[in-house]
This record gives sequence, structure tokens and C-alpha cells, in this order.
Amino acid sequence: MGSAQTGDIDHVLLSEEQIAAKLDELAERIDADYAGKDLLLVGVLKGAVMVMADLSRRIKHQGVEMDWMAVSSYGSGTKSSGVVRILKDLDADLTGRNVLIVEDIIDSGLTLSWLISNLRSRGPASVEVAAMLRKPTAAKVEVDVRYVGFDIPNEFVVGYGLDYAEKFRTLPFVGTLAPHVYSS
Ligand code: IMP
Ligand code: MG
Repeated sequence: MGSAQTGDIDHVLLSEEQIAAKLDELAERIDADYAGKDLLLVGVLKGAVMVMADLSRRIKHQGVEMDWMAVSSYGSGTKSSGVVRILKDLDADLTGRNVLIVEDIIDSGLTLSWLISNLRSRGPASVEVAAMLRKPTAAKVEVDVRYVGFDIPNEFVVGYGLDYAEKFRTLPFVGTLAPHVYSS
């Protein structure tokens, strides 16, 4: 593995530079929208680790906090079912907080829509979503995503936190996998 991983990439969909420029934009909007308000970033492990690290460091908002959740969605094979189990819950009490969920990608949106209603039931002042990537399939479920990095085609992508069988998360760009990776 290691640097050999890049040989498994078919093409780069989003470069490190494109991602960085988009994060600058999103952070600026978030700073403007949450000026004078409290802000709690909630990252969903593990995919959101890179977006969380890079986005949060661009946010100038004073007193911004971050917290983490880990969830597993039950489903048949690779399809997400929307039935979710909490593996690691938040440390923070959400009462009266302005929560911004930070996500890597929205595919079906089932996990996210479950998460939004779960967090809304905890008495926060607001719950919004920032997602680096969104696939067209996300339209099927009504999830209102305030901040979207890129709308991408319906292809399986890896890198920048996203994995295939736990590999490729550490790539600094987003790319598609070469066919030989799936067949090996
Ligand atoms: P959904 O929106 O409930 O269908 O599930 C979203 C989750 O599926 C994401 O948080 C990722 O972990 C995973 N996922 C969806 N599409 C991709 C992809 O193209 N590459 C890697 N993981 C993906
Ligand atoms: Mg995954």
C-alpha cells in the first residue's frame, strides 16, 4: 500500500487545490452565517476526518467547538438502509447549541436524514449540514444541505477520507478507482 495506492486510481475527480479553494469558500460562508452565535461542528467518523480538519482550521469563528459521532448503518451489502446504530455518541449536550454536521459525502442521504432527526430531538437551537461531496442520488431523500462542496456524478470515489474496504482514505485528492481494484 502506501504510495502504491495512487496506482489504483483511474482518474482524479477533484485535486487538492480544488478542494482547498472550495473549503475557503465554505468557511467564509460559515463564518458569516454563524457570526455572534455559538457553533458546534459535529463530524461523522471516519469519512469526515479530513473535511473536518481542513474546514475547521479555516473557520475564524471564535469559540467554535468540535465533537464526533460514529454510526453504522445496517443494510444489505453496499446499500445503506437508513437503519442506524450509534457506535460512539457525542460528548456534548446539544441543548440550545447551533450544530453543524460535517460530512464527507451524501449518497442516498439515508444515514444523514436519520442523524438530523436524532440530533434535532436533543433540543439544539439549530441543525445544519456541510458536506464536501453530494451525489445525484441524494435527491431521493429530502435532506436540506446548507453547505455543499461539489456535486459529483454517481460514481464510487475514494480519497480525502473516503474509503474502499478501509483503504485510500489518506489520499489528498478525490478520485475514482481503477477496475482492477474491484476485481482483485
Ligand atoms: P448514505 O448517504 O446513507 O447512502 O451513505 C453515505 C455513506 O456511504 C458515506 O458517509 C460513505 O461512508 C459511504 N459512501 C457513499 N458513497 C461513497 C463513495 O463513492 N465512496 C466511498 N464511500 C461512499
Ligand atoms: Mg465507508
